[in-house]
Amino acid sequence: MPIKVILVAGARPNFMKIAPLWSEMNRLPSDFKPIILHTGQHYDYEMSKVFFEDLDLPEPHYFLGVGSGTHGEQTGKIMVEFERVIQSENPDLVVVFGDVNSTLACSVTAKKVVIPVAHVEAGLRSYDMSMPEEINRRVTDAISDILFTPSKGTDENLIHEGVERSKIHFVGNIMIDSLVSILKRIDQSYEDKLFHKFGLERNNFVLVTLHRPSNVDDKNNLLNIMKFLDGLSLSIPVIFPVHPRTKKNINGFERGFVSNGAFKIIEPLRYKEFVALEKYPKFVITDSGGIQEETTYFRVPCLTLRPNTERPITITEGTNELASLEDAEEKASSILLGNWKQGKTPELWDGNTARRIVDILKMVGC
Ligand code: UD1
Repeated sequence: MPIKVILVAGARPNFMKIAPLWSEMNRLPSDFKPIILHTGQHYDYEMSKVFFEDLDLPEPHYFLGVGSGTHGEQTGKIMVEFERVIQSENPDLVVVFGDVNSTLACSVTAKKVVIPVAHVEAGLRSYDMSMPEEINRRVTDAISDILFTPSKGTDENLIHEGVERSKIHFVGNIMIDSLVSILKRIDQSYEDKLFHKFGLERNNFVLVTLHRPSNVDDKNNLLNIMKFLDGLSLSIPVIFPVHPRTKKNINGFERGFVSNGAFKIIEPLRYKEFVALEKYPKFVITDSGGIQEETTYFRVPCLTLRPNTERPITITEGTNELASLEDAEEKASSILLGNWKQGKTPELWDGNTARRIVDILKMVGC
């Protein structure tokens, strides 16, 4: 009998993690019966459906439609709805990804009804308990039966917290699987059209993404960041695809926001478009986890506007550096002058992580 597996996705960064595993499992119907469950944490077209299209994911088998809310509301709604699905499907395994509220909600719900849980992207730690994602990671890792880790160092984090070594499997970074796969579908003419559409030139722009509450929820803080980016755009064009959380807060500025330079604020991009741009910026400014990793893969300099990162390998081996608003200008100047580290690709960030995961699942059974 194939192993019946529910693959849980909820928010934008989950979609690129679920896709490679769905496709690997789908190729082995006698071993796996994968079911895709989308909690609906992200629901806007630009944040959700368009990613399913770019990643060749089918319509989810289950869509819980939980939407936004406070952390408690969102997490609670997912748990209630997910429990119903588990009761009707009775899966052999639930696989959760990353660190969003859906990850925590579904891992806890499954474990309470004694269904085994595997966590893909286990062991990352920022040691910053003011980040909701850190709470989600720690809880999920503490209760998961199988922990698939993305990079060196993450195994030690788990062992240090008392996780049995036999549960931990270093398989590499599954997001890179999706990246490798979409790159094969981006050709020069697609890129040319995109650069034309945004009026940009390769290697002569800065790509920005910011959505963490610590950067965007405080109005003054966000306004200072926007002023910094606008100032930067007097030296080099800056393009900023804006996440809904950030957009809502920019719209709340009393006098709106008008650029004095070449600062383009645009709607969120689809995955294929974002990746096509992300290959070529002079540098990236972000607070996203996944983008720290993707820029390391592309060897594009990255400034992470945060005091810490759960992905330190992007600093020790990659092209990433942490920055504050105070030192970002100086670091940006260093990059513009060509003084930045080259970086290297971390071990097992090779596009074959999903294959390693299914091999392990076949071995351990469920
Ligand atoms: C969530 C994740 C974060 C991840 C990010 C990627 C948690 C705790 N946070 O943050 O780790 O990096 O996704 O995008 O799980 N909204 C829309 N349309 C949508 C979704 C959200 O307009 O499709 C708006 C709503 O106003 C909502 C706000 O964005 O209140 C924030 O959404 P939410 O899912 O709470 O968290 P994110 O900031 O997106």
